[in-house]
Amino acid sequence: MILITGASGSVGKAVLLEAIRRESKVRAMYRSKEEAAKAPSGCQAVLADYADKHSLRKALDGVNFVYVVCSPIPQLVELESNMLVACKQAGVKHVVLNSALGAGDYPKSFPSWHRQVEDKLKSSGMSCTILRPNGFLQNIVTYNAASIRTQGAFYAAMGDAKVSYLDVGDIAVVAVKALRGGPHSGKTYELNGPEAISNEELAKRISKISGRTVNYVDIPESAQREAMLGMGMPEWQVTALLELQQYYKQGGGAKTDGVLRSLIERAPVTLDQYLKANAKEFRDQAASA
Ligand SMILES: NC(=O)c1ccc[n+]([C@@H]2O[C@H](COP(=O)([O-])OP(=O)(O)OC[C@H]3O[C@@H](n4cnc5c(N)ncnc54)[C@H](OP(=O)(O)O)[C@@H]3O)[C@@H](O)[C@H]2O)c1
Repeated sequence: MILITGASGSVGKAVLLEAIRRESKVRAMYRSKEEAAKAPSGCQAVLADYADKHSLRKALDGVNFVYVVCSPIPQLVELESNMLVACKQAGVKHVVLNSALGAGDYPKSFPSWHRQVEDKLKSSGMSCTILRPNGFLQNIVTYNAASIRTQGAFYAAMGDAKVSYLDVGDIAVVAVKALRGGPHSGKTYELNGPEAISNEELAKRISKISGRTVNYVDIPESAQREAMLGMGMPEWQVTALLELQQYYKQGGGAKTDGVLRSLIERAPVTLDQYLKANAKEFRDQAASA
């Protein structure tokens, strides 16, 4: 049996769908009954919380292979560590951990939290594979589509920093291939998309594909902080996001290489493909109504 955690989340949901396509015995872990009720067919839904060790024991009953992911929250280290201890106690054969790019070389923000979990996993003695993805293509809609729809613009203090975005579906293919360990045991994969893109270039691509003019507006970091706080984001999250942005500004996210392509054995999803599939998200709905 395979257990996919974070089955309601952005990357976890994609991993679950890929696991159902490739494997016969799949269990999907949810925290809430509402999300579990949306479990796709072809899997067994289980309710569990990383904070509840008893629920983890039940979720892991009969499980050999586990994909571990958690929301990027300050409790991530403690929560994922609970899961690793539970996996070890349950005799799990292989763990795939969803970490983040920067865990190898950036001692701040989300990457530094992920690094602590990586180190615990490695020292647990369990067979494992660590995935360190760059920024998800899906972030583009999540973070930028709302202001693009209403103002034809998106705002950040990224300067000309580039990000090699990748699709969560491609991460899912790697995660599921690695689930049984084998040649992937003991490996850490840094996963970059096929093209490094600045926000200026991103605005041009969105303009071309959505058929409307979209601008990227570079703002001072202090203004971005104020805007995010004004939207109700907690201080810790604003600080972590701005620190991650610094990593990108230092060039940390701009690498492209053949690692993802060779792991998934086909061309990775490109920015243009993603934008075409999501073009309606960027259109002014009032104007097109
Ligand atoms: N976004 C990016 O560009 C990017 C890039 C590289 C790495 N990452 C990393 O990828 C990870 C996943 O990101 P995402 O965007 O997929 O996050 P997400 O959409 O928030 O999904 C996180 C999942 O973890 C579950 N979860 C949270 N707390 C839990 C708990 N106490 N017990 C059990 N499950 C819990 C959530 O369940 P609920 O639905 O119940 O909350 C959800 O299913 C993060 O750690 C992030 O740092 C993200």
